[in-house]
Amino acid sequence: MRVGILTGGGDCPGLNAVIRAVVRKGSFHYEDEFVGFLEGWRGLLENKAMPLDLSNVAGILPRGGTILRTSRTNPLKRPDGVDKIISTLSQHKVDALVAIGGDDTLSVAAKLHERNVKVIGVPKTIDNDLSGTDYCFGFDTAVNVVTEAIDRVHTTAEAHNRVMVVEVMGRDSGWIAIHSGVAGGADVILIPEIPFDIEKVAEKIRLRHARGRYFSIVVVAEGAKFSADVNPEHGAPIVQDMGKDEFGHARLGGIGNILAREIEHRTGFETRTVVLGHVQRGGSPSAFDRMLATRYGLGAIDMVHRGEFGCMVALRANKIVSIPLSDAVSKSRTVDQETIDVATGILDKLTTEKEAVEG
Ligand code: F6P
Repeated sequence: MRVGILTGGGDCPGLNAVIRAVVRKGSFHYEDEFVGFLEGWRGLLENKAMPLDLSNVAGILPRGGTILRTSRTNPLKRPDGVDKIISTLSQHKVDALVAIGGDDTLSVAAKLHERNVKVIGVPKTIDNDLSGTDYCFGFDTAVNVVTEAIDRVHTTAEAHNRVMVVEVMGRDSGWIAIHSGVAGGADVILIPEIPFDIEKVAEKIRLRHARGRYFSIVVVAEGAKFSADVNPEHGAPIVQDMGKDEFGHARLGGIGNILAREIEHRTGFETRTVVLGHVQRGGSPSAFDRMLATRYGLGAIDMVHRGEFGCMVALRANKIVSIPLSDAVSKSRTVDQETIDVATGILDKLTTEKEAVEG
């Protein structure tokens, strides 16, 4: 078969590992041929492609980013976008397409499937917010990067008697914040799923310091919200500007600085902010992500040959399974109660507030 591959949306560590696994198994076991479409859906709209074979996937396993590059191009925003994609696929004699991406990329894949395009999805995002799978590759690496940063911030916070606010990515879900906050031993973890009361955060820090601790670490997800009653923004997430990407997402970020200012003002403790930003998405994938991405790539090419189109490869209870794309993109997956219980269980119970994940 002739199989097309593309990577869409924000990059994340492990994209190259998926491409490599699809090409290797397809070449060794099925005698497939491959074509790579460049820069996400833009490659199919503008006919930007490159040949893909065993030689150009050699050595890419540990590399971050994606050899196919990526973009947030939304073909559904163009009147003839889907037709153009279908025509490019036929021009390249593509029998099946493997689309590696998050909810945006895969929602386009689901639409293409409705037009009889033979497409398989692979779940990618550091945010870990795709439904239907236990983990997206890229998430583990991001959590490791943030955890290491929290460890480093800990020593400087302790040396200076400071409160340090660490702002992390995750869009509307708090997976990165809660996993790295627990792994890094943060004192307060704020996630979008649970709007927080700034006065209660300040009180918690005051109590902690009154008890003899002289520094605190606060991890805040970029999409976290002040609860509506005290929020100058009325419970809305903080956005960097009014612009949106082609899928309608606002650019989040900035809550860390606002939070730090409020904490310093309300507690009198010197407070600093660290915004980790795209560092969380860069660099080499962790061993866990290399393994998961490889399993996803192998699963995807097997699905192509089983004819399971319109589906996404997923991880459920540590087994690779196939689920309908429509299930994966119907709603985003937010932090579950079990994970929230881990955070509330481990954090110092200085207050009994339920509104924020703070002890
Ligand atoms: O979806 C992944 C992600 O890194 C989010 O966590 C973040 O809000 C967004 O992408 C940033 O997007 P961009 O790379 O377009 O600035």
